[in-house]
Amino acid sequence: MPETVPLPDEVIAAVRGARRVLVLTGAGMSAESGIATFRDAQTGLWETFDPSQLATHEAWVDDAAFVWAWYAWRIRLLGDAEPNAGHRALADLAAHREVSVVTQNIDDLHERAGSRVTAHLHGSLLELRCADCHEPYADQPALPDAPVERLSPESCPACGGEVRPGVVWFGEMLPQEAVQATEDAIEALEPGDVCLVVGTSGIVYPAAGYPAMALAQGATVIEVNPDESGVSDMCHHVVRGTAAHVLPALVAAVAQS
Ligand code: OAD
Repeated sequence: MPETVPLPDEVIAAVRGARRVLVLTGAGMSAESGIATFRDAQTGLWETFDPSQLATHEAWVDDAAFVWAWYAWRIRLLGDAEPNAGHRALADLAAHREVSVVTQNIDDLHERAGSRVTAHLHGSLLELRCADCHEPYADQPALPDAPVERLSPESCPACGGEVRPGVVWFGEMLPQEAVQATEDAIEALEPGDVCLVVGTSGIVYPAAGYPAMALAQGATVIEVNPDESGVSDMCHHVVRGTAAHVLPALVAAVAQS
């Protein structure tokens, strides 16, 4: 941990005083685990790849092998990644406060760090299902050892259809149970509770609207992000640092109380 974690006293006091903490996470949460974000300049996935060719139903129908090759490689990379100190700190926080983790991330790093995740708003990279009959696919898919341009998707044992990743693509509905669980967690917030917004650009809805909903419940909204985001302006406090630096310091300070 660097010596200069920019952690204002009011931020520590807010989390100390909270009964519940709702944590909303985005791609920046996993950046220090080596998982690329979507929109960071130079390193963001959408800087290099065209989402319309990889993250839409039309792309899948057009060239499933091209789309699957990209996701299969990301599953392989995720298998080699580890939760970072920020993920572990959030899991520790649950020993001290009632914590709900709502994530836009499609990785399983919160779970592997020990958090119970309330909602994966954008689905999961690891929960595969048939694109035709929607049956979950339980077998391990064959994964490439290096990036490949095209890879035939697995076949569904039930209907022979092509197996797709369980992620939400542009133009698709979010899993309704995840949305409902998130809204329930927001409605449970009371004045004095905290909403911690970590590592999201705050521009993709409905997730980008949740900090405002938490604010309307009377919660103190705190952002942890090295850069300004679409929700920075409405936060009570902004901590300009990374998840793996700020969250361990914050949770350690709260645990001392
Ligand atoms: P983005 O890539 O849009 O934003 C990542 C955010 O993380 C930025 O605000 C960065 O400043 C911040 N960040 C980078 N490194 C960080 C670190 N180490 N610690 C903390 N913050 C850091 O990612 P999301 O907001 O999650 O949707 O993107 C939202 C959705 O857009 C994704 O879930 C995905 C994408 O299209 C779907 O695929 C449906």
